[in-house]
Amino acid sequence: MLPRSVDTADVEGKVVLVRSDLNVPLDDGRVADDTRIQASLPTLRLLLERGAREIRVCSHLGRPKTDEDRATYSMAPVREAVKAAVGDDRVEVLENTRFNPGETKNDTGFARELADGCDLYVNDAFGSAHRAHSSTVGVAELLPAYAGLLLLDELRNLGRLLGEVERPFVIVSGGAKVDDKIGVLQNLGEQADAVLIGGKMAEDVRTGNPFTFEAILPVDVVAASAFAADAETQVTPFDALPDGWLGLDVGPETCQEFARRIAGARTVFWNGPMGVFEWPAFAAGTFAVAEAIANCDGFTVVGGGDSVRAVHEAGVADRISWISTGGGASLELLEGKELPGVKAIPS
Ligand code: 3PG
Ligand code: MG
Repeated sequence: MLPRSVDTADVEGKVVLVRSDLNVPLDDGRVADDTRIQASLPTLRLLLERGAREIRVCSHLGRPKTDEDRATYSMAPVREAVKAAVGDDRVEVLENTRFNPGETKNDTGFARELADGCDLYVNDAFGSAHRAHSSTVGVAELLPAYAGLLLLDELRNLGRLLGEVERPFVIVSGGAKVDDKIGVLQNLGEQADAVLIGGKMAEDVRTGNPFTFEAILPVDVVAASAFAADAETQVTPFDALPDGWLGLDVGPETCQEFARRIAGARTVFWNGPMGVFEWPAFAAGTFAVAEAIANCDGFTVVGGGDSVRAVHEAGVADRISWISTGGGASLELLEGKELPGVKAIPS
């Protein structure tokens, strides 16, 4: 069951505390990618249209620990971007919630500080919904709580992968953080018609399949003489890497095979790149998957920071059905776990 929507709240003349996920990448003190800011605007605009008196937006930014981090992770550049985008003085952006050490402990004192003077609370921070913190859970116990539009869209779209899916259902997975993904793959992989695996994960599965289903592994790889952008390369069979060489991307035959399976799918979920796509010599596999998913007519979902970056870099983001703003949160949801930030909102 979905949490109750902000759409049903009476906000006229009210002071609203909104938790957004404005944890955006920064580059030299500037917002390097504003995807999460853009995604948080519909809820803010709805509250403005419905006559909220004041909107206090809060979020964490990075993982500040030291005093120096307080300068690096100041909310100032994000605040400027949000204010410019909404263009309404009723919206205020509070300082980084993680500057208060109580935040990550779900401290009630800090939750009271946030809730002070507010009439209601809207949680729109899907990307942080897997965290039980003062700003995501504590305040929901102090104020009438509602779900924001982005949070609901994420739950609806990702939720479609958990129910009866249109088949064939194809999962593509890869990347280096294998441990993070085992749980999701175990839960969803059983339901899928094919699980295509590339990247470092493919090596791990070859040497000891941790799953109860048969995964489809690469047939060839782009091998590199060293872990370097300008290493010497050659295409070799997946199971015949020369001694001392590293597989840093899936090979051309694998790209074709993966693209063929994705083309025939009615539902696709992708998380994790096929190789070290930050380096052009090892980017072809990841971009081939991005392109194939964009060309697929079915319902297609991409989650996780690296794969999301890859669909943007490949220029195909507008041809994907749903791009999740959550990394860890999307994985935990698809693993079948209840997200504390969602659970804290009445349905
Ligand atoms: C994210 O970027 O994954 C979310 O904003 C959560 O951040 P965290 O992993 O530091 O809690
Ligand atoms: Mg994370």
